[in-house]
Amino acid sequence: MFLSRLSLTTACLATLQPVLSQSTVENIAYVNPLIGASNGGNVFPGASLPYGMAKAVADTNSGSNQGGFTLDGSNVTGFSLMHDSGTGGSPSLGNFALFSYSSCANGDIDNCVFPKVSRAAFGSFDNTTVISEPGYFSITLDSGIQTEMSTTQHTSLFKFTFPSSGSNETDEQPIIFQDLTDLSDSRQDNGSIAVDPSTGRITGNGRFLPSFAQGSYVLYFCTDFSGADILDNGIYSNSRASTAVKNFTISRSINGYPLPGGAFNRFTSGSNPIYVRSATSFISSEQACAHAESEIPDFDLDTVRSNAQDQWQEKLSVFSIDSTGVDESLVTNFFSGVYRTMINPQNYTGENPLWSSDEPYFDSFYCLWDSFRSQIPFLTIIDPASVEEMLRSLIDTYVHLGWLPDCRMSLNKGYTQGGSNADNILADGYLKGLTAGIDWNLGYEAVVNDAENEPFDWCCEGRGGLDSWKALDYIPVQDFDYKGFGTMTRSISRTLEYSYNDYCISQIAGGLNNTADQEKYIETSGNWENLYKSDQTSYFANGTTTGYTGFFQPKFLNETWAFQDPLQCSNIDESGVACSLQNTGRETFESSIWEYSFFVPHNQAELIALFGGPSNFVSRLNFLHDQDITYIGNEPAFLTVYQYHYAGRPGLSAKRSHFYIPAFFAPTPDGLPGNDDSGAMGSFVAFSMLGLFPNPGQNVYLINPPYFPSVNITHPITGKTAIIRNVNFDPTYEAIYIQHATLDGKPYTNNWLDHSFFTEGKELVLTLGKNESTWGTHVADLPPSLSEYTGFNTTVVRRSAGIGQSVPRTYKSTFDTYNAGVGKL
Ligand SMILES: *[C@@H]1O[C@H](CO)[C@@H](O)[C@H](O)[C@H]1NC(C)=O
Ligand SMILES: *[C@@H]1O[C@H](CO)[C@@H](O)[C@H](O)[C@H]1NC(C)=O
Ligand SMILES: *[C@@H]1O[C@H](CO)[C@@H](O)[C@H](O)[C@H]1NC(C)=O
Ligand SMILES: *[C@@H]1O[C@H](CO)[C@@H](O)[C@H](O)[C@H]1NC(C)=O
Ligand SMILES: *[C@@H]1O[C@H](CO)[C@@H](O)[C@H](O)[C@H]1NC(C)=O
Ligand SMILES: *[C@@H]1O[C@H](CO)[C@@H](O)[C@H](O)[C@H]1NC(C)=O
Ligand SMILES: *[C@@H]1O[C@H](CO)[C@@H](O)[C@H](O)[C@H]1NC(C)=O
Ligand SMILES: *[C@@H]1O[C@H](CO)[C@@H](O)[C@H](O)[C@H]1NC(C)=O
Ligand SMILES: *[C@@H]1O[C@H](CO)[C@@H](O)[C@H](O)[C@H]1NC(C)=O
Ligand SMILES: *[C@@H]1O[C@H](CO)[C@@H](O)[C@H](O)[C@H]1NC(C)=O
Ligand SMILES: *[C@@H]1O[C@H](CO)[C@@H](O)[C@H](O)[C@H]1NC(C)=O
Ligand SMILES: *[C@@H]1O[C@H](CO)[C@@H](O)[C@H](O)[C@H]1NC(C)=O
Repeated sequence: MFLSRLSLTTACLATLQPVLSQSTVENIAYVNPLIGASNGGNVFPGASLPYGMAKAVADTNSGSNQGGFTLDGSNVTGFSLMHDSGTGGSPSLGNFALFSYSSCANGDIDNCVFPKVSRAAFGSFDNTTVISEPGYFSITLDSGIQTEMSTTQHTSLFKFTFPSSGSNETDEQPIIFQDLTDLSDSRQDNGSIAVDPSTGRITGNGRFLPSFAQGSYVLYFCTDFSGADILDNGIYSNSRASTAVKNFTISRSINGYPLPGGAFNRFTSGSNPIYVRSATSFISSEQACAHAESEIPDFDLDTVRSNAQDQWQEKLSVFSIDSTGVDESLVTNFFSGVYRTMINPQNYTGENPLWSSDEPYFDSFYCLWDSFRSQIPFLTIIDPASVEEMLRSLIDTYVHLGWLPDCRMSLNKGYTQGGSNADNILADGYLKGLTAGIDWNLGYEAVVNDAENEPFDWCCEGRGGLDSWKALDYIPVQDFDYKGFGTMTRSISRTLEYSYNDYCISQIAGGLNNTADQEKYIETSGNWENLYKSDQTSYFANGTTTGYTGFFQPKFLNETWAFQDPLQCSNIDESGVACSLQNTGRETFESSIWEYSFFVPHNQAELIALFGGPSNFVSRLNFLHDQDITYIGNEPAFLTVYQYHYAGRPGLSAKRSHFYIPAFFAPTPDGLPGNDDSGAMGSFVAFSMLGLFPNPGQNVYLINPPYFPSVNITHPITGKTAIIRNVNFDPTYEAIYIQHATLDGKPYTNNWLDHSFFTEGKELVLTLGKNESTWGTHVADLPPSLSEYTGFNTTVVRRSAGIGQSVPRTYKSTFDTYNAGVGKL
């Protein structure tokens, strides 16, 4: 998803114990959580466990504080307990912020500044005081107060260390208060808070709005203090406080802005440092307190921090990387990308008030349109047991709410951006053998529901326009739909996405031996072609032709063509038209027809033929990238970097990859080209540097050389180690072209492989050179495609999927004639 352009309220062996490889280097040492903390990356750069619900960080008053903290010169307004990462839309979560002062002037509580807006003046800081590591965050404000934090699953532990001050006792009576607030000031009426006069325990709750969804959610919390004697306590409302009142219920206020309100504890002189333990729950304050007491019984920050870091190191230890000769910043870029794939989704198992179930519950699928492309597929390699729980949660959501989610956050249905992308995610997991605890018949029922039944409100689930889809085999522009309602735009991108969704459904059907359905959905997966207008031209804004003909176009109900400029909504479109979910949005979502014209992930062979053969396909793909029509900061661009493989030019994929990284992905706070989108960008970096890129929803990884001499990936369930090794590795990345390859010692010419590479621990050895070679260029070498590859100058027919055997190279190919750069056979 883009930056907030939106004006909406806005087959496995699971019983085996994990086996981990021995890493000599602590991979965790290479993680920099601050990548993406400025320049609109919107990452959550604070303390969290993998998929943790508790996410503690300092929040700033930046306009780009979707992830809480930013390094852009904004001030800290508090330290809150939950966050999402990398999202657009309005800021998510950021509830129940804490803030502190060393004292209130003259010992008068009313001399302290409570409201979030005005206390920001006390939240300035120097960037160099910020320390961020997986599971730990620390910052020292200009006030001299250092705040450190770490987390368990539901609980955050803070340590406030106050500067020593003057000799006057009242100068050393620190105050810590907690606010009934969230990042986007969405609190509704009747938030309530209470402080226990003797223990200082603060409990409370509030109803808030999700950032990119309908509905609301109620969150509870429980906060305890340790290391200090309580001087007095009470509540504050707006800018005034009282020690006489210990609880209250607060209105949102008539002006729309939530009235500031919260509770405070003041501590006796010399209380330093002070530990604050704060847990949240969607069930009750009692449950929040129970989490806090069981997860952090003794307020020991060092223990909480080292437990958190152990969990991160364990997740990262599936990798063992030989980085000899490689600049350390690349290792940092890689492991930080890996790290960011495990912030969202969040594990709210046991915390779902909406229905009772023994199934896991994961939230912050924000959004599957972003995460199906590479984030969830990445986790399927490095953390399949967790993905199994996520898939069970998606299916259980279908069971209890009637629909698979497409975007879900804070217990609510988020806005659907295009197709029903859970279908792609389920197919990806199914084809890669995820089984543990998953009822695949039920999963299949859920995806068929997406394809067959239209929800009344398809803003947030399922698909719209299904009557037209079934009658006309495309989604018409200006559709007539009286059964369901949603934003009536995106007819081209929805047609393309529904087509691919159906292909994904067909793959599960096939696996379940449901041949009739398999054929049916393969048939409808071809609907994309109905919007292909072979004589459609494309001109730049200055009237110069792009030189390409044949693009998707919108089609009316009466099967005549409408028109959308193929460059509209592209990265170089300066017309200012609405391209997101606005009612005035275009027929392609957040991207152009130019870019969507490549989105036929299941039938590249047919697409290549339509585009006039492999040579023209490659030239068009080059044009897309070279003319900046695509923008790598949004997810539809991901696969286009690697689609050269399908035209028999894997070397060009490697070359593009080495252009985009590092040009657009640097291991610095401003190093991301756009919102990280729940780790989508992180997974793009990690997959790219790993040297394999998925075609998500298919059991296919496109082979590129890793950015390191070698990479070992130990499958956490089978314990087998997959190895990718570069021969003639060149740290200047001039030699990035595969000359030949072996898989488990035998010659291997396919330019792709499947998931058994990871589960069975195979060894891929790539010999590199400075020029493209004929490796992976022949029709027989190309990844699977629904149609046969045609227009390729070769005498053999593509063989079916299946790897491990060497390809008999008895055929002759002159496929390379379209490219002088490719050597001769
Ligand atoms: C750090 O601090 C300055 C001034 O507060 C800010 O403007 C700058 O962009 C910051 N960020 C980084 C990454 O240095
Ligand atoms: C300490 O502060 C109190 C309250 O402001 C003031 O009345 C008193 O004079 C101060 N004492 C000294 C020694 O500064
Ligand atoms: C940050 O705090 C400083 C010091 O009070 C103040 O001058 C500045 O205006 C504040 N900046 C923001 C963005 O709140
Ligand atoms: C807030 O509480 C009042 C008094 O109990 C009630 O009338 C009102 O409906 C509540 N508002 C919300 C949004 O729950
Ligand atoms: C709020 O304070 C009142 C008055 O002290 C007390 O009777 C009541 O039990 C308190 N309620 C809560 C929820 O703490
Ligand atoms: C990868 O595994 C192989 C086989 O166990 C081992 O020889 C090699 O040293 C490992 N490489 C790394 C980088 O750990
Ligand atoms: C999710 O949370 C539940 C309950 O705390 C726990 O049993 C499960 O192991 C967690 N799963 C993951 C993947 O973290
Ligand atoms: C599908 O059929 C094949 C071949 O008969 C069989 O091996 C497999 O177990 C079947 N799969 C399912 C899910 O029934
Ligand atoms: C029109 O714009 C394109 C793309 O920016 C550029 O390549 C071309 O040279 C321009 N043509 C003229 C006549 O300015
Ligand atoms: C088809 O429908 C469009 C949109 O309503 C209309 O402009 C066009 O004239 C129609 N064409 C025919 C041939 O009916
Ligand atoms: C690589 O290509 C360049 C440019 O086409 C050519 O000059 C050079 O000889 C080639 N190198 C090898 C090793 O084939
Ligand atoms: C295919 O090969 C034939 C004969 O060698 C040649 O005439 C033709 O141009 C080639 N076509 C392509 C697309 O390379």
